[in-house]
This record gives sequence, structure tokens and C-alpha cells, in this order.
Amino acid sequence: MSSHIVFRRIQVRSFRILSSVDFEPAARLNVISGDNGQGKTSVIEAVYLVATSRSFRTEHVAETLSTGASQAVIAARIEEAGVVREQRVALGARARSYRIDGKRPASLASYATQTPVVVFHPGDLTLVSGPAAGRRRLLDRVALFYEPVSADHRTRYQRALRARQATLEERGPRSPELDAYEALIAEHGVAFAGYRRRTAERLIELLSETFGRVAAPGLRLEAVYQAGGSEDREHFRAALAGRRLEDRRRGRPSFGPQRDELELALGSMKARAHASQGQQRVLALALKLAELSCLESARGADPVLLLDDVSSELDPARTGAVYRFLEAARSQVFVTTTRPELLATPELVGAERADFAVVSGRVSRV
Ligand SMILES: Nc1ncnc2c1ncn2[C@@H]1O[C@H](COP(=O)(O)OP(=O)(O)OP(=O)(O)O)[C@@H](O)[C@H]1O
Ligand SMILES: [Mg+2]
Repeated sequence: MSSHIVFRRIQVRSFRILSSVDFEPAARLNVISGDNGQGKTSVIEAVYLVATSRSFRTEHVAETLSTGASQAVIAARIEEAGVVREQRVALGARARSYRIDGKRPASLASYATQTPVVVFHPGDLTLVSGPAAGRRRLLDRVALFYEPVSADHRTRYQRALRARQATLEERGPRSPELDAYEALIAEHGVAFAGYRRRTAERLIELLSETFGRVAAPGLRLEAVYQAGGSEDREHFRAALAGRRLEDRRRGRPSFGPQRDELELALGSMKARAHASQGQQRVLALALKLAELSCLESARGADPVLLLDDVSSELDPARTGAVYRFLEAARSQVFVTTTRPELLATPELVGAERADFAVVSGRVSRV
């Protein structure tokens, strides 16, 4: 039985259009409505950031500080199995700090796995239609929950890979320090490749289930993980040594998990190239629901769900499937919409639902 996670209070200062926001969400459904450009997505982004340490909209956190501000702060009071904790992120143009109950976490990975959240937003379509990097990021995020040490191997792997590439380009393929770099790359690359494969296997298993739940009957999904590296250290090292000339010429390494792909096909057609818009949406949704199931089983808690503009992205039948799923999931949910009237929830009793209006970055209860 998984434990229940609930955001009890959210405070935001100087984050995007949100200069000062302070609200207390309901335990089940929170509907955040407002016209375009008022700050709905920013609210969801702030909740995601305080939980995961990252934004789903940008890799450049400096962009998220309100114009002219030197620091943004997001703080959340979170209850899990009756215990309350305070998570707090302060973002400066260069430095960032993360605190749990006022204390610095042992690692960023330990901070980012405290409060599992899953976001579904319009940009997620690129999970299916976009480059493999988006699918690898999904795998890495899920791996973090199953095996937090994976982040460490990934960082060390990438660092050594960059050092080898720079050496190759600046000093040439006979440079003596390449052997040491390649041994290091192989050591962490093998571990990293293992996390990727195990995570892909878990995700694919759950994906066939979630896909069946949201897709039209008869549509057949094939998901295959293709490793770009190796889980055998000697093989990995030899592959690197044998590709020095090629990697130098190409300007990037041609072997390793940075080349992994999670191949998705409908029927026998590659989804990225051939699926219709609607099919891509359904597949993206199934991927997110699989992420949700993975996080739930890895963390033993119901992840909090953040749905940005979901109904604008899906047809009514699929939207219905999402909401039925949410009802069953028991999670706390935050939904943004320009049309709150479409979200009737007669089954929720008073305190289970709260409605908020966002106008020019101000959030108020309605
Ligand atoms: N760093 C920033 N500082 C101040 N304002 C910002 C910053 N980044 C974005 N904004 C402003 O925030 C507003 C957009 O907020 P947001 O994307 O949250 O709106 P939204 O309500 O989700 O809109 P939509 O319904 O169109 O998705 C825009 O007006 C944008 O100019
Ligand atoms: Mg928005």
C-alpha cells in the first residue's frame, strides 16, 4: 500500500510572473484557471521545481527569475503519511540552494526523490515526435527513483566523456591520457548503461498496460530499447579505443549510452515519423502514465500529478480516460485550464477540491 503525499501550502516569490503567491491546496483536486498569459503554467512549474529541483520548461533556471529580481524562492509544506516536511528552493542567477526542513540534502538526487511528481504538459508531445534525448531524459528521471546512485554514474560518465573528446580534438588520438579517460568512461558507462536498460524494461512493461488503457482498441504498440553502449567493461573500453579517429572527425563520441534510443512504433510504423497527431498525443500520455506507475512502485507513494492544459491537448474520449485514471490514482492533482466549467467533479466532496483563479500572476481562491 503506497503512502499519500499532499502539498499543504505553497509559497512563491519572484518566480516568473508570480511576484508573491501563497496558497493552500486541497487534498485531491486543485483547479487553477485563468486567461492566457496570466501565470497558470508558472504555478505548476513552481510546484514541479520545488519537488524535483528542475523546470519542465527550461534548462536555464535564470530565465525563471522574475524580471529584475536577483532571487526566486519556492517553498512547500508537504505531508506524507502524517509527517510534515518543508522543502525550499532558492534560485539565483548563478547559485541555487535546496533545503529540506532547513537542512541541506545529502545530494541533489536525494532532494529530487523526496516528493515524486509527474507533470503532463503540451510540450510532452515531443517525447514521441522529438529527438531521442527527450526519451532518454524520461528514462533517467525514472532511474533516479529506482536507483538514485545512477545520477552519480551519469555525471561522472559525462564528465570523463567530455575530457576524452577535448583531449582527442586538442592533442590527437595517440595522446597518452586517453587510456585513463577511456577506462573511467567504461567503468561508469557500464553502470549507467545498466540503469538505462533496467529502467527501460520497467517502463516498457508498464507502458503496454497504460497504452492499452488510453488508446483506441486495436492499436498495437511496440516499444524497444536500443543500447548505444555496452554493459561489458572490456567491450566498452575497446569500442572507445577503436573509435578515436572517428570520434575526433565527427566531433562527438559515437559509442555509449548517450546514443541510447527508446524506439516506439505503432503497428510496424515508427511513431516519431508516421503516427498521426492524435496517436502521438495518446502515446505521450501513455508514457507519462507509465512514468507515474514507475515512480509509484519505486517510491512506494502516490506521485502528485500536475496537468497543464491537458484537455486542450486531447479529444473528449481521451480526456475522459485521463480523469477516470486520476480518480483511481488517489493522488493529489493540480490542473490548469482556461475553461474550469468543463471540470465538473460531483463525486468530490467539499474539502477535496479547491478552485483558484490566476490573474496577472496573483492567485486567489474562488
Ligand atoms: N522571468 C519572467 N519574469 C516575469 N514574467 C515572466 C517571466 N517569464 C515569463 N513571464 C510572463 O509570464 C506570463 C506567462 O505565464 P504562464 O506561461 O504561466 O501563463 P499561462 O496562464 O499558463 O498562459 P497560457 O494559458 O497561455 O498557457 C507571460 O505573460 C510571460 O511574459
Ligand atoms: Mg500555460
